[in-house]
This record gives sequence, C-alpha cells and structure tokens, in this order.
Amino acid sequence: MKMYKIFFVAFLATSFSLFSQIPTDFLSKDFHKGRRDALRAKMPVNSVAVLFANPLRNRANDVDYVFHQDPNFYYLTGYREPNGVLVLFSNNQTDENGVSYNEMLYVQERDARAEQWNGKRLGIEGAIEVLGFQMAKNANDFIQTNINFKSFDRIFIEKFNDDYRDSAKNTAEVYDLVSSFKENTAYNPNNFLSPMKKQIYELVKSTPIENSANVAQIIGRALAYDPSLKRDADLMKFKDATDNRLKKELQQKIALKLDAKTTIDIHFLSNNLATLREIKTSEELVLLTKAVRISAIGQVEVMKAMKPHMSETELQGIHEFVYKKYGAEYEGYPSIVGAGNNGCILHYIENSKTKLGNELVLMDLGAEYRGFTADVTRTIPANGVFSKEQKAIYQIVYDAQEAGIAAYVIGESMATPNLLSKKIVDQGLFQLGIINSLDEKHPYYPHGTSHHIGLDVHDPGNYGNFEENMVVTMEPGIYIPDGSNCDERWWGIGIRIEDDILVTKTGPVNLSAEAPRTIEEIEKMMAKKSILDDFVLPNLDN
Ligand code: GLY
Ligand code: MN
Ligand code: MN
Repeated sequence: MKMYKIFFVAFLATSFSLFSQIPTDFLSKDFHKGRRDALRAKMPVNSVAVLFANPLRNRANDVDYVFHQDPNFYYLTGYREPNGVLVLFSNNQTDENGVSYNEMLYVQERDARAEQWNGKRLGIEGAIEVLGFQMAKNANDFIQTNINFKSFDRIFIEKFNDDYRDSAKNTAEVYDLVSSFKENTAYNPNNFLSPMKKQIYELVKSTPIENSANVAQIIGRALAYDPSLKRDADLMKFKDATDNRLKKELQQKIALKLDAKTTIDIHFLSNNLATLREIKTSEELVLLTKAVRISAIGQVEVMKAMKPHMSETELQGIHEFVYKKYGAEYEGYPSIVGAGNNGCILHYIENSKTKLGNELVLMDLGAEYRGFTADVTRTIPANGVFSKEQKAIYQIVYDAQEAGIAAYVIGESMATPNLLSKKIVDQGLFQLGIINSLDEKHPYYPHGTSHHIGLDVHDPGNYGNFEENMVVTMEPGIYIPDGSNCDERWWGIGIRIEDDILVTKTGPVNLSAEAPRTIEEIEKMMAKKSILDDFVLPNLDN
C-alpha cells in the first residue's frame, strides 16, 4: 500500500473511532417507554396528555443559555432538544392510513443549515430509531394538527410558566406550539381553581348570606397563605361587602365560576409524575449513584487541595473539574462555595471571596450526570483544623444528621428526620448558650432536611412515608451570621452537612459516604497531599 493510502486509512480509522466516542450510558429507550406506559395506565378513558419540551432561552444577543430539557419531558421521552411536544393518548387512535397508535412525539425538523451551526437534530427518524417512538412528526405538524382536542373528556397538561418568547427565527418553537395548543383547546387559565380557591368558592356558595361574616374572616386568613387570592376581584369584593344584595350577586357569580367545566386539568400530570418519579428504577439508580459518587469524590479532592490563600471561585473550579473529568455534563444547580459569613447565606452562588483565610468553607455542589443530579454539602476549615467553636457547632450538626439518617426506613414519615434534627440542634444551641430557651424561635436553622433528588435537584414527590428506592437528602445546618444575638465568638459560622440517602429494605444507604464527614476524618483527609499542591500558574498581576 502506498504511504498516503496508509495515512488515509489510519486517518479514517481514528476519526471514526473519535466520532463514535460519545456517551452511551443515558437512560434507555425502554426505560422511557416503560414510564410512558406507566403514566398511560393511570389515565382515565378518552383522555390525552400533552407535554411541551423546554424552549431555548436567550442569554444575550446572539448567545443562548445552555439548553436543559424539562425533567418530566425527558423522563417520558429521552429527547434532549428544545421545541418538542409529547402527546399521549389513553386509548388507541387510528391515523389516515388505518395505522393504530397511542403516542406521538413532535420533534424539531431536520435542517442542514441550523445543524451546521448548532449541532445535530434527531428528527423524525431519530425519534423512531434512537428514542423508540412508534410515531413521530415534525413540530410544525403539531401546529397544523388534526388532533381534535374537543373530542377528549380530559386533557392533561402541566401548568404553563408562560416564559417563552417568540424569537421569530423559528416558526415551530415552544412559543408557537403552546400558542397553537391554546387556540385549539380554547384554553382559559381563569377556569383553573387551586385547591384552596376551590374550597373557598364552595364555602361561599354553600353559606347563607346571613352567616357570611364568618366566610369573610376565613377569606382574610386564607390570604396570608395565598396572597394571589388578592387578584380575585369578585372574592375580594365579597370579603369586604356590607350590603346583602351585593353579596348575593357576588355569591352567584362565584358559584358560576365553580361550576364552569373545563376539560383541561393542570394537576393530573404533576401529581402522577411525582408518584412515578419519587421511586427510582434500577436504571435510574445506576446514574444517580454515579452523579452522587462523582460529587463526593469532588469533595475529597477539594479537602486535599484546600489552602487558606485560595479563593471560593478556585475551589468551585476544582469540584467542577472533577465532575468534567468523569464526563458529567453540567452542575445540577449553581455551585455554592461560601467561606465564613458567606456560608450563612443558604444559596450563596457569588463565590467571589478571594481569600479563604482561616474560615470554615461551606460547599454545596452536585454533578449532573446523564440528567441526574446529586446534592452534597461539606463544611470544612480552610486551614485543615477545626477551631474549638467550629468543632462545637459542627458536632451538633453531625449528630442531628446521624439521628435523621437513622430514620430513613421504609414506612417512616418523611417529616421525621427534620423533626429529630431540629430537636438536637435546639438542645445543642441551648447547651452552648447560643439560644436562651429550647422554645426560642431562633433563626439559626431556617430550612428542612429532606428532599428527593433525581432529574431535578428538588425532585418531585408526595412526601408521605419513606418507600424502597427513594433517594432523599439529609441536610441539617446551623448558620450564625455576623451580628447575631449571641456571643460574637460564634459569629460567621455557617455549617451544613448534606448527604444523599437511598432507602432500602435493609435500611438507609449513604450514597455520598465517600466524602468524609466526621471531624477526625476530615482533618485526616485535609492533611493529605494534593496533586494541585504543585499546580502553579504564572502570576498575571505584576
Ligand atoms: N443545593 C440545594 C439544596 O441543598 O437543597
Ligand atoms: Mn438539598
Ligand atoms: Mn444542597
């Protein structure tokens, strides 16, 4: 073989193997189909569910934000592009050629020019071959749809955020898809009553006008829980009315609204998808466990690398470098790295302090791997050794976390870990004299401990009792900002410890256990050498 031919063959072989080296461990098409079947099984006869993909969102001028799919949409389809629609039917439909189908995915149309700039699209063929859909069409066909939505008894949608814009560059983007759906279904958001509003309307309807002073009081109290009720002009007039004739008129108007029937239901999907998503399948557990382990290993590397001269930004970079090294695609939420008083801001994402000094550093970060996000927090002393005060507070948070984790057992209420941890924190702070009574409503622990994780960092769920294969965080914390009403030696201490716990038949399994948690283990890890100790870059400031 001539030399150039050998080169050519070698070049082809390398470029082919490079091209084929893309991640293949995403959720499988069978997983997504299984989830659609599970949802369909919950749908009543003659109903249809319509879900929209996320739109592309603009960052500035020619630059868009990195696209992220809506997690419910992803859960049901595996589609990772914007501007799609999933239509699921409870009963088989028949198309114009007599072919029967019970689902349809509308996708972005293939477009060579757009794909040259912004990357490949799956198109109809990809939706069928890669995602395993039996039927797929271009999104434009959803706008020209021949689906007769009026023929269904129920139409299930998710609440629209209405934060899509018409870029006018694309005639079948989410903005257009949602607009056409609204037209085809005579969508009217005023027909949807929240559960609280529904209850109040029923009360207004059923209470004789003579007794309506009571109802007015109840409306007043409900306003504190749901200030959006203020926008309900008739209800507000009813609350304040003194004239019985006016009250009667308003009562009739409200009764009519209560009876107005809409076939569109905005609760079914969120309720049923929460029920499905809160229990993880084995396929999900593989990916979620990997996201959590990557995040825990990021904490380990930072423990070894951290030095008082470093900045919050630099630490964030080390965590995120570990994520990328493992091929994680994103962070699951903006990384939180706060030294000292910054650690007392629960969702501090500026991460801009240039020197850690001898402070404690609170680091709440999670890798997103194949769509699944971890949520892991460690709080460690920048100089490698906890001070007496830091130790005292840390130990309380640790004990609260341990007590909580022990309650992650099947059948236990999901509210229990939080209650147990609050009790321990109250006692601990009281013993140290930071609060003056066990009943003091103090501001040092202003959040709960337990939320599901999965495709969302705050994954949907019903929050009843723990069940097998739930993955839930346990994250107590104590935050004593500068200027707090206690001895100033406690000021600027902000500590959260957060782990991701899998509920199993044999008890809780801490998926993030690779990141040390006890004071001794952390100090030991921080004393180790880091590969980054020798990573010195040129100084650009002189
Ligand atoms: N990282 C957000 C949270 O802990 O819930
Ligand atoms: Mn959390
Ligand atoms: Mn967190």
